[in-house]
Amino acid sequence: MASSDSTLPVIPGTEPDKCAFDAFRIAIAKRISDSLGLPIEQVYTGVDYGKKGVDFTVALPRFRLPGKVDELAKKVISNFQPDEWVESITHDKAFLHFQLNSATMVHKVLTQVHNLTHLSPSGKPEYGTSDSGKGKRVVIEYSSPNIAKSFHVGHLRSTIIGAFLSNLYRACGWDVVSMNYLGDWGTQFGLIATGFEQYGSQEELEKDPIKHLFQVYVKVNKEAENDPTVKERAAQFFKRMEDGEEDALKNWRVWRELSVKKYAEEYERLNVQFDVYTGESAVGHKSQQDALERLEKMGLITDSEGAKLVNLEKWKLGSAILRKRDGTSIYLTRDIGGAVERYEKYKFDKMIYVVSAQQDLHLQQLFKIMNLLEYPFAPSMEHVNYGLVLGMSTRKGTVVFLEEIIREAGSVMKEQMMKNEEKASAIENPDETALEIGISGIKIQDMAAKRINNYTFNWDRMKSFEGDTGPYLQYAHVRLSSIARKNPNLLPLPSPPSEHLVTHPHLTSSSHARDIAFLLGSYPDVVRTALRTNEPSGVVTFAFKLSHAISSAWETVVVKGEENEEKAKARLWLYECAREVLAASMRLLSLRPLDRM
Ligand code: ARG
Repeated sequence: MASSDSTLPVIPGTEPDKCAFDAFRIAIAKRISDSLGLPIEQVYTGVDYGKKGVDFTVALPRFRLPGKVDELAKKVISNFQPDEWVESITHDKAFLHFQLNSATMVHKVLTQVHNLTHLSPSGKPEYGTSDSGKGKRVVIEYSSPNIAKSFHVGHLRSTIIGAFLSNLYRACGWDVVSMNYLGDWGTQFGLIATGFEQYGSQEELEKDPIKHLFQVYVKVNKEAENDPTVKERAAQFFKRMEDGEEDALKNWRVWRELSVKKYAEEYERLNVQFDVYTGESAVGHKSQQDALERLEKMGLITDSEGAKLVNLEKWKLGSAILRKRDGTSIYLTRDIGGAVERYEKYKFDKMIYVVSAQQDLHLQQLFKIMNLLEYPFAPSMEHVNYGLVLGMSTRKGTVVFLEEIIREAGSVMKEQMMKNEEKASAIENPDETALEIGISGIKIQDMAAKRINNYTFNWDRMKSFEGDTGPYLQYAHVRLSSIARKNPNLLPLPSPPSEHLVTHPHLTSSSHARDIAFLLGSYPDVVRTALRTNEPSGVVTFAFKLSHAISSAWETVVVKGEENEEKAKARLWLYECAREVLAASMRLLSLRPLDRM
């Protein structure tokens, strides 16, 4: 039992110190490689999680060995002796099924969870993290709303998924630059400037810049519909902004600054942070002009009544305007110049754009152009797209501002919680708590399915404590937190854990306890898969699986009332580890795990 990992071969790319299951997979791979004469690295990649009730499975046909798979399986089994890693092997046609030694598994997993949470070198919880991205930098652009226009649910999704990706890449050792690329430039600012003279109020602006600018925009837009001279004046004004006329830029600067300040507060509410607030306005003329000239030399630009068009028909990507007739730039051109400038500044190894699938064509055009221009970083640009959110409106009507979504989440949740008055009155900070749970509800609903799927937003589902919802996850965490609070006599548990505690027979003989430990052991793999796919849904599924396993254990794996103190401690220890991993998965999803509700 006391045998250490040093008895196992080392396989590059694995991290047994961060993921105990790597060690078990190596142990499994070693048996097969010894029996069948295959390189251990090759076998290792074939060790998969088993179906229900099976720890790990290997499909033998993948190795393309001569002879019958049946014979091969028998050969592995006849050489098998149970040891501290593997308890048993069975075979089913072409599949070999492995059960891990429960005592070693529980011991290794729980010790690792504890040590990487409480005794990590960084002093921060590290279970589930890895070093796979060490030395690499990623720029992740997300949220990116347009100033003076509405913050729609598409921006909300980008914010939620982007925050998750930032956490994820950081957890995997990447140096992350999280970036908000504001829509803070373009003809609409000429329009607002024109409208502000008439409809603007300094006082309203300072009170709520985002709302006020939007109001002005809506009014002047309406006017422009009836009066073409308004549009002309707006275009002229924007031209002056593009030319860098300080007079034309003065107000715009204030609007932008006030809007960013307000947004930053709201993002904080959502537990979302940015390293950099930049925007379309920050993209320089030169980088845009250079790219345009090079495209012209390559014969890809056609002139259309003074406007410049890039022709991408050859790649079935249509054609797109890069420069307007009056010489002002547009969205795509700014993205081209922006990418070049970002590379110059950050020398990234990867750049991710978290943008709605509605802009698939735009990003394909952008990436195609960057590749045609042979920028060496072009292949490392990635679009992480997502589907539509349908039907998200507040009780007052269609959502226009982020603030409304946040407020509604809080009030819907508060009403729900007030239905149980007795419980609600015990909450210290009901408004704060309701808001936090409400936000969890929105985020979980958003990340529960594959991101490319559209989904219909549902306040009833979002606020429910039953089913796979955000409130349910928060509740599961609160319940776990309460165990230690209710059993102060068992505290403190030894840290690092004593051998006796982690190998307590009760933890290994209860299938509920074993299930929980096995799930905890799988968490580092859940994080790896998320990184490979840029998908939050696997992490959400994991958090629910873990919560369900805990709730199934609740009745039989009791702490309070257990008379054998050693047994009670061992169980508390298991629940503490479960809480830490549940919390880690929630934080990865940008939730703030609550200790009370
Ligand atoms: N502001 C844009 C919009 O709301 C999204 C920006 C996406 N990012 C980009 N680099 N184009 O549609």
